[in-house]
Amino acid sequence: MNRDEQLRREAVETVNKNKQIAEQDPYRLHYHIMPPAGLLNDPNGFIQFGGKYHLYYQWMPFKTDHGAKFWGHYSSSDLVNWKHEEIALAPSEWFEKNGCYSGSAIERDGKLYVFYTGNVKNEDGNRETYQCLAVSEDGLHFDKKGPVLELPKGYTAHFRDPKVWKQDGKYFMVVGTQTADLKGAAALFSSGNLTDWEHKGIIAGGGTGKLKNFGYMFECPDLFRLSDKDILIFSPQGLETEGMKYQNVYQAGYVTGEFNPETGEYTHGDFDELDRGFDFYAPQTTEDITGRRLLFAWMSVPDQKEQDHPTTDYKWLHNMTLPRELTLNNGKVYQQPVRELEALREGEAVEYTAELNNETVAFNGVLGKAVELLIEDIEVSEGWFEISIRGNARLVYSANEKILTLERKSYTNGIVEKRQCKLALLSSLRLFLDTSSAEVFVNEGEETFTARFYPDPENKEMSFGASQKTNFKIKKWNLQKKFI
Ligand code: FRU
Repeated sequence: MNRDEQLRREAVETVNKNKQIAEQDPYRLHYHIMPPAGLLNDPNGFIQFGGKYHLYYQWMPFKTDHGAKFWGHYSSSDLVNWKHEEIALAPSEWFEKNGCYSGSAIERDGKLYVFYTGNVKNEDGNRETYQCLAVSEDGLHFDKKGPVLELPKGYTAHFRDPKVWKQDGKYFMVVGTQTADLKGAAALFSSGNLTDWEHKGIIAGGGTGKLKNFGYMFECPDLFRLSDKDILIFSPQGLETEGMKYQNVYQAGYVTGEFNPETGEYTHGDFDELDRGFDFYAPQTTEDITGRRLLFAWMSVPDQKEQDHPTTDYKWLHNMTLPRELTLNNGKVYQQPVRELEALREGEAVEYTAELNNETVAFNGVLGKAVELLIEDIEVSEGWFEISIRGNARLVYSANEKILTLERKSYTNGIVEKRQCKLALLSSLRLFLDTSSAEVFVNEGEETFTARFYPDPENKEMSFGASQKTNFKIKKWNLQKKFI
């Protein structure tokens, strides 16, 4: 048996054993993508190929910690029902021995080309990085072609996460990196054939431009056109908290600008975070055949507290966000859950028209662990409006301060912690609550808040409160179970 077969066999054996434990977990999610066992992080190679959506992901099948990552694989024909496929990539070769790290996929002549980072950490702690290619006919089995890009001069070995696209008959690649003087940057490459890559330079960050001195590392860059703009998404590390901004240890966000495929130049505006919650990192997008720009993100952030998630007792850790569709409105990226997710709804909605005034109310039937809540026509001109969720989380809008806040009890010490953003007006909220996650879409995607939370598994209660006269309509659906 060769090294690749051996690694795959060991992974499958461990996962088959541990997934029986994972399935006993009351916090196992009902309709979010999770690993069968082990740790999941970034979405990788997200693409519609051969009539199916493919979502590969960073996977440590042996334990609920980081390490020599595999590419796990889910496929779906509708973005709702996902099938766990066999392992796509195992870190079996010398150039990836410490992990087949994040990357992307592109179709050429009916074949799938995936680009990923081969991570190598030597005994002496020295890091090497190789941008590698693997080719597949069916999206399931990959033929590794090895490194296609070695580390250019001017960067440290923190150089990874290639995202490849085609524009004006040429291929482009952005790579997340750190410059030799320790600044976060996105580097651009171009190619005519997907194997020979020319370094075009830094398109964002480094020592110049609007993002000069913007942290010490950019991870997972993604450059794409949305309406008439070119959006660069990336996950910077090393930003200082600034009021309500940059509250998590690492961020994920974007700049908006103009990319010139002739010259490889990119001019852009200021950075904005994509999500205001606790758990959102390393997002990746793809364009599907209907022309929609779709995004998945990892519903976590790499930090010291990952091992405190109670799911580690059940041998699994982390999940993806729901798939979201991006649009650009007045220069701002909006995120909405893809419309296909309406298929998760079970039966008719429970509906209410509410008028609250200095009271807290629980509406009959508006409760549950895996539900969608649509709250529309919100009119709150003074005081505050709040939704309490399962005795653990709370969403509060202060009409006086024009601030929306998400609170949860920390899974580390139970102390209430919060994330916030400025919001001039609150008109609608769409909440997707799963057994241990919450995704809040505000004003049809103007802002989102994404978080894990761990309420008492038996607690299904929800209540609505307002300090002054507040009107709204509620619709609530139970959502189907798709994953265990
Ligand atoms: C982001 C990241 C990437 C890297 C991968 C390793 O979460 O650190 O930069 O490729 O995870 O799993």
